[in-house]
Amino acid sequence: MIVKSANINVMMGAARKAARGLLRDFGEVEQLQVSQKGPGDFVTAADHRVEKALRAELTKARPDYGLLLEESGHIEGKDPHNMWVVDPLDGTTNFLHSIPHFAISIGLVRNGEPIAGVIYQPLTDEMFWAEKGSGAFVNDRRLRVSARRKMEEAVIATGIPHQGRPQPKRFLGQLEKVMGATSGIRRFGAATLDLAYVAAGRCEGFWEIGLQPWDIAAGIILVREAGGYVSDLDGNANPLESGNVVAGNDHLHAPLAAMLK
Ligand code: IPD
Ligand code: CA
Ligand code: CA
Repeated sequence: MIVKSANINVMMGAARKAARGLLRDFGEVEQLQVSQKGPGDFVTAADHRVEKALRAELTKARPDYGLLLEESGHIEGKDPHNMWVVDPLDGTTNFLHSIPHFAISIGLVRNGEPIAGVIYQPLTDEMFWAEKGSGAFVNDRRLRVSARRKMEEAVIATGIPHQGRPQPKRFLGQLEKVMGATSGIRRFGAATLDLAYVAAGRCEGFWEIGLQPWDIAAGIILVREAGGYVSDLDGNANPLESGNVVAGNDHLHAPLAAMLK
């Protein structure tokens, strides 16, 4: 039997509870696609509802922890060491277009380091979770990064910069190198799940420029606990701070990072 810590149980409980409303809203969005007004405002409201539900659950369980929430920003806690880092809806563009690929992500950052994470994909009921020193799991199954060693066999996930995102030219240069060297690139549209998929061995690697802490806090600990590596694209900064991230299995992280330089 897998023993989950109290914090993991709090994070999973919050994610499952908030996901119920999110699933109902996803059904509604499908109806709204064909309406004149479109689902834009409705999705913004749904996003805020999820965040509110998560915030209530996390604060109830750990009143002193700080919070960093995508929509509400930083809320300082009495406890200066522990902070929940929350993306209530990762994959908003997918959600908005009724593409069934999105997640709720909750990371726990202690003294600047991600030490626990939960990424919940409600449509597949996959609860990806990890805690420092305890391993990474999806539901009750242990995760391990893929064993592929050859770049030509690798599938690499990425995020393509869109309107207003930084460094599109740099990205195109990277894309050209990676597409010529691997067996495929995927743009799934939810960075939290991209990292969870690296942890689960579904992809050999992932990179993206310009991410935010809530996109990666939970995913970093998942990949690391599954035996993979996550670093800053330029190799010097903390990826949580720079937001320029490269992740990979133990064989391909280094060559992928070198290719992206
Ligand atoms: C976005 C997704 C997407 C990534 C973007 C993120 P959001 O988050 O994770 O995959 O490419 O950089 O901003 O806006 O859906 O929470
Ligand atoms: Ca996000
Ligand atoms: Ca989001």
